[in-house]
Amino acid sequence: MRAVCITNPGGPDVLKVMEREIPQPGPHEVLIQVAAAGVNRPDVSQRKGNYPAPPGSPADIPGLEVSGTIVAVGENVKLWEIGDQVCALLAGGGYAEYAVAPEEQCLIIPEGVSLQEAASLPETFFTVWNNVFDIGKFSKGERVLVHGGSSGIGVAAIQMVKALGGSVFVTAGSEEKCSFCRELGADLAINYRETNFEKAIVQHTQGKGVDIVLDMVGAAYTEANINLLAPGGRFIIINAMKGRMGSVDLIQVMKKRLTLTGSTLRPQTPAYKGLIAKALMSKIWPFFPDEIRPYIYQTFPLDEAATAHDLMEQSHHMGKILLEIPFKT
Ligand SMILES: NC(=O)c1ccc[n+]([C@@H]2O[C@H](COP(=O)([O-])OP(=O)(O)OC[C@H]3O[C@@H](n4cnc5c(N)ncnc54)[C@H](OP(=O)(O)O)[C@@H]3O)[C@@H](O)[C@H]2O)c1
Repeated sequence: MRAVCITNPGGPDVLKVMEREIPQPGPHEVLIQVAAAGVNRPDVSQRKGNYPAPPGSPADIPGLEVSGTIVAVGENVKLWEIGDQVCALLAGGGYAEYAVAPEEQCLIIPEGVSLQEAASLPETFFTVWNNVFDIGKFSKGERVLVHGGSSGIGVAAIQMVKALGGSVFVTAGSEEKCSFCRELGADLAINYRETNFEKAIVQHTQGKGVDIVLDMVGAAYTEANINLLAPGGRFIIINAMKGRMGSVDLIQVMKKRLTLTGSTLRPQTPAYKGLIAKALMSKIWPFFPDEIRPYIYQTFPLDEAATAHDLMEQSHHMGKILLEIPFKT
């Protein structure tokens, strides 16, 4: 099969299409003929050598999510059959014509979503569910601040929180990105390059602040995030793009009974991810296509993965970037 491989740690040009053996599914795995693969920021970190694949997944083929058709199943697979169309969360190996996935990590294609579009869903929807809903214990009526509102993660978070009855405030790096977030349902979108987001949220909430912060920015925002959290608030960290050593006012944590937490999805077990898959299919998939849908910014052929990474690193995109693999008979 053709697969995009990281030939060395480095810039986008280290991604090269190579010939590889088609992987064989283990007893609890399925083999998927890939229609499309989602591009995610963690793939960029992996390409640079900062986010190695966990043991058991391909070390040099990036790709955390795919959609496609199941063409083989392991001997103990119970949930799926050959011919089923699915989207799936992977621990790696998605930038390829074929990929294996644990059966628990496959999901049905939501209503009104094309097979290709479905590749944009697993990584961000699993991550947001895990962090905002499981770890963050979101409940209806709560206010959630999402940094990077126009990112793949932001697009999922805005739609999921709105669908389940919350308010969402976002930060984003341009007026165009802010408009996009408002169209998705954000109650307040703040261009952080021009407006102090802490002041804007204090004003908008009449000083009440937010119940949950979903943060990917890190140190530069830590103080404001802590200041904005209401009593009982949860500060959830999913990356630290602008510094890992934030300063925390411990007295505020104590007085407001704050929870500081976070997670990385990739190293979790298939059983853990399987519980998230079940929750997504029962609680989020019913909102497709009217209240939740995929937002694809641009799609590239598999052999233009380097261009797709370059686009992601320029950060002009809004929503998801995909790699498409034309169906071969
Ligand atoms: N912990 C986990 O399990 C997990 C799983 C998936 C993703 N993530 C993390 O979630 C984040 C979003 O992922 P994604 O795939 O949705 O990425 P994405 O679409 O590329 O979005 C990244 C966003 O971050 C902002 N940004 C870019 N460079 C930045 C920088 N140097 N400093 C601060 N902000 C920057 C950009 O927004 P503006 O242009 O508006 O600033 C952009 O919208 C990434 O940091 C990723 O590593 C974590």
